[in-house]
Amino acid sequence: MIPLPTHVDQAVAAAVRAPSPLNTQPWRFVVDQGRIEVWLDRARVLRIADPDAREARLSCGAALFNLIVSLRSNGKTVSLRLVPKPEGPDLLAELVIGGDRFSSPEERKLAEVVFRRHTNRRPFADWPVPVWARTTLRAAALVEGGLLELFGRGDRANAVARVLHRAEAAQARNGAFQAEVALWTRRTAHAPDGVQAPTRPPSPHGIPAQESFIAAEPEGGEPVLGAVLTAAGGPAADLRAGMVLQRVLLTATAAGLATSFVGRPFETPETRAAMDRVFADLGRPHAVLRFGYGRPAPMTARRPLGEVLFRQSEASL
Ligand SMILES: Cc1cc2nc3c(=O)[nH]c(=O)nc-3n(C[C@H](O)[C@H](O)[C@H](O)COP(=O)(O)O)c2cc1C
Repeated sequence: MIPLPTHVDQAVAAAVRAPSPLNTQPWRFVVDQGRIEVWLDRARVLRIADPDAREARLSCGAALFNLIVSLRSNGKTVSLRLVPKPEGPDLLAELVIGGDRFSSPEERKLAEVVFRRHTNRRPFADWPVPVWARTTLRAAALVEGGLLELFGRGDRANAVARVLHRAEAAQARNGAFQAEVALWTRRTAHAPDGVQAPTRPPSPHGIPAQESFIAAEPEGGEPVLGAVLTAAGGPAADLRAGMVLQRVLLTATAAGLATSFVGRPFETPETRAAMDRVFADLGRPHAVLRFGYGRPAPMTARRPLGEVLFRQSEASL
């Protein structure tokens, strides 16, 4: 079989570094010499926390962004078609790789930080996120057709905290949710998927208590939260939101900021609807992120490329 061009291999290696809930990695890539398809891997969608595969599509959108930025940094033109369709919902996007072009310094920088970005659930230091960094993060979201609404203390943060506590309480009572978390919890950091069981602080849900973001902030600290929004909802918007999310996360990493997710409020129908109401004046919220300065946290592992990369000729999806 003809070997794949290096830029295709490199792009898929970048794609799998995308974040996903509980590190489920719900994606597959079908490639040939000049094309990459992004598929949703249904077997890896969280049935309880993500019954509509919304978070999985968000993760695939983040992987798609990594593919694009890697190809562009390697001097390739890329044309993108977002294709989630009701009759074939698992093929999410197609990328056609075109001729050579110059890459920009920004593309090269983002492609490089793909391999350093990681979720940092530790408390962040009591240093404000400077205005230039906030401006850069907002601009990153706009470039991808989304919106990043930054907020600290105040009405919006209090409303999010209230919804978060409702979500945590509902999930603590939900045995099926806890069983699903347990299914994706691993003993070692070397496991190729899933998240590691926390040693401290103890969490009733078995995953790190990053969610208590307000309590975790040092006295007087200003938590900087950011909601990723799109103008409308639906499967294509989920993918778009994933691309926005990933450009924001990579831009934050490049700016020296640590990031983590406030994901729970989106994982029960009642609290997801409440989040829609909290942000109704702006658009459709897809994720809430936390930005700050923190001691580096460990990177998580990924499955080998052989498990996610298929040649067009051998794809039996
Ligand atoms: C849609 C989405 C929701 C997430 N929600 C949470 C969350 O609620 N709590 C958390 O600690 N991490 C959350 N994460 C982060 C993942 O656990 C993390 O991306 C994954 O374990 C891989 O680790 P990495 O981001 O360090 O590469 C979420 C990620 C995504 C994409």
